[in-house]
Amino acid sequence: MLIAGNDTTAATIANEVLQAADDEPLLNRLVEEVLRVEPHAHGLFRTAMRDVELSVTVIPTGSQVCIMFASANDDESEFPYPRKIDLARPNAGRHLAFGAGTHRCIGAALSRMELKIAATEIVKRLGNIELAIPVEEVSYLPNVAMQTIERLPLTFSRRTTAS
Ligand code: HEM
Repeated sequence: MLIAGNDTTAATIANEVLQAADDEPLLNRLVEEVLRVEPHAHGLFRTAMRDVELSVTVIPTGSQVCIMFASANDDESEFPYPRKIDLARPNAGRHLAFGAGTHRCIGAALSRMELKIAATEIVKRLGNIELAIPVEEVSYLPNVAMQTIERLPLTFSRRTTAS
């Protein structure tokens, strides 16, 4: 629970800050779009319990496979121009950032709430948020399945209207 519930949300909040739009009414869609475009978990490992025929291949019983389910978030038949954060997408929440099926994330509702609160507080308190390094210098921890920003230097100003 600690790993599944903390690192995931913290990493997504960092991704969210990177993508932050200074437009509070659109935060719900922003959260969904950031989860879709920059999901923390790109995939997870599974063991095939029986032979599974998939397209032109068979995954034999006992095989370890890394299912990169987040690639479905880039399915352009579902999400046109998938790499684009589009706050007008009618199906913004239909991504696989929380996986699917039996093991779908049990913390999805909680983390959606956490992400919205974090985003709301960030835009309420901080203005002019900018990346302090070139975007290509943002580094990620080495991990095949998870995407965690290593450090995210930002500049920002304090909003005087914050209550
Ligand atoms: C942005 C935040 C989060 C993301 C992106 C995320 C993502 C995921 C993903 C992709 C899975 C695997 C689904 C699968 O195997 O099909 C998962 C499972 C899980 N998550 Fe999360 N998660 C987040 C937050 C949380 C939180 C806040 C909690 C708990 C408070 C949590 C608890 C769990 C647990 C216990 C599982 C395992 C479920 C199972 O195997 O049946 N997660 N999560």
